[in-house]
Amino acid sequence: MIPQSFVQDLLARIDIVDLIERYLPLKKGGANYFACCPFHGEKSPSFSVSPTKQFYHCFGCGAHGSAIGFLMEYSSLSFVEAVKELASQVGMQVPEEERGHRPPQADNSSLTDTMARAASFYRQQLRITPRAIDYLKRRGLTGEIAARFGIGYAPDGWQPLEAAFPAYQDKSLLDTGLVIENEQGRRYDRFRDRIMFPIQDQRGNIIAFGGRILDKGEPKYLNSPETALFEKGRELYGQVQARRAIREHETVIVVEGYMDVVALAQFGVENAVATLGTATTPSNVQRLLRMAERVVFCFDGDNAGRKAAWRALESALEHLADNRTVAFLFLPAEHDPDSFVRENGAEAFQRAAGSATPLAEFLLQELVSQTDTASAEGRARLVHDARPLVTRIAAPVLRLQVIKSLAERAGMMQTEIEQAYGLKSAPRTQREGDGERFGRRGRSAIMPRRKPSSSVEKLLRMVLMQPTWAGRVPIDLVPDDSDEGAALIAIVDMYSIGELPMRGGIGPLLEQFRDTPHEQVLARSARTMDDASLDESVDETVFADTLHKLHTESVNKEFEALTEKARNTTLSAEERRRYADLLLERRNPGDSPKISDS
Ligand code: UTP
Ligand code: MN
Repeated sequence: MIPQSFVQDLLARIDIVDLIERYLPLKKGGANYFACCPFHGEKSPSFSVSPTKQFYHCFGCGAHGSAIGFLMEYSSLSFVEAVKELASQVGMQVPEEERGHRPPQADNSSLTDTMARAASFYRQQLRITPRAIDYLKRRGLTGEIAARFGIGYAPDGWQPLEAAFPAYQDKSLLDTGLVIENEQGRRYDRFRDRIMFPIQDQRGNIIAFGGRILDKGEPKYLNSPETALFEKGRELYGQVQARRAIREHETVIVVEGYMDVVALAQFGVENAVATLGTATTPSNVQRLLRMAERVVFCFDGDNAGRKAAWRALESALEHLADNRTVAFLFLPAEHDPDSFVRENGAEAFQRAAGSATPLAEFLLQELVSQTDTASAEGRARLVHDARPLVTRIAAPVLRLQVIKSLAERAGMMQTEIEQAYGLKSAPRTQREGDGERFGRRGRSAIMPRRKPSSSVEKLLRMVLMQPTWAGRVPIDLVPDDSDEGAALIAIVDMYSIGELPMRGGIGPLLEQFRDTPHEQVLARSARTMDDASLDESVDETVFADTLHKLHTESVNKEFEALTEKARNTTLSAEERRRYADLLLERRNPGDSPKISDS
């Protein structure tokens, strides 16, 4: 856990405009900056960045957040990764390193420079090598798509890279795996006479290469070794090029080969990435599930494909969430994605991806196909074999669904299976401590929710825009029977104990509530904001009017409750006094000054 105080200090040191400007061309308009939204396709800019609120927001698609949120979204980083990246930019040391994590990559910039220089050399070599150009043409690629993926050519010979690196003995060439040193200390290029596919990390740095032989030969693909820059099991090929299309389709398609990604893009399927010649790792899955709501693994229809799919499934179980889908697309046995899209076109491929087999179905299919459910032994075996898989499913609702289907096929009751697995079917409770930390009335976060009154919604939105106004919201008037009400109370509470980040506006405020029960509702509120509310001029009088309306609503509610009570029992003396006050207040709104402090 990174301490919240560190997150807030970090955000105070970072300017969101500076940060985003590095990725997008921003234009100033009034107090804010604008650009075309990187998270959905658009022609006129509706993506705005507010320096005073340290917040970005797209009026088109609702994307929004702080500087940390932007890096997470734009570069598909986890929270911790984004914080580390920002911290390194301003030279801050993130406290409390997790154990077993890679040490912070301090001076890798010289290695990425080396890789960039090599990539540029390979690209230039491609331009002057007709044989390599012909190969790519034969595989149906245009110059445009080759350029988009930075494809190059490593010439034949022992030290071609020497042309790009006069200091061929430099350590960085060895450290990046671009050259190999033999026992006599003689160096030569790793990649010779190969088509070169640069592999980029999320930020676009080149961290490795895959090199394909032009004709027949072994190995067909030669890859960079693991280096300080490159950890094979973590990276995905083509993610930078696919980012926009992944957003648009809300789907990421995962294939096995470099050529598959490139060919799919050539034919218009741009939301595909590839694992790097390894089985899909849990770290791949985690990253993929952050990139899109739906992840479709695409495998060949043969036996090897089904095996690879099964391994991907196993890597996915512990990272599933109920608002995410993982599905498997099995191509006809004779095809890989490259040949399939060439033969059937992009639309057919997207359609196939759309009707891919959902993970739960694939899981049950495979298990059932391995057992004879006609016999009691077979059914017992099914339940037994399913156990280690089912219990690892992290998405509670999906797990329940799988258990139900399993129960059906095994001829058992759902509860019997849960019992056999030692699972309790009790609903999951809130995380410990949250209730206490987030407000005196934090417990309300697990009470049944109601639709918030429009004034509560409005106040929440205004307080998000103008956090100092939290100090003016009379907390006792805010009903806590809606998520919005509970969130507003939590903000006001935090303000009252002086823990609300005052300097940066809504961006830092949202960070304060990350991973709390209020995160979702604050995101919902921020998402539906319109241009006007992001402008500086959130009107003081509108705020006062809304407070007044809240007050009236509260009076009415209490009045109605007392009226109802009076119908059933006799009111106490104090209740009767209160009733009279309320009656008066309803007749002459604003007259009774002490309505809220009884
Ligand atoms: P494939 O052998 O399926 O090749 O390897 P492909 O993607 O269809 O390539 P083309 O169409 O023949 O050019 C799939 C992936 O497995 C890894 C590579 O990452 C490749 O993209 N691989 C394969 C290797 O790393 N080394 C190899 O020798 C072969
Ligand atoms: Mn192929």
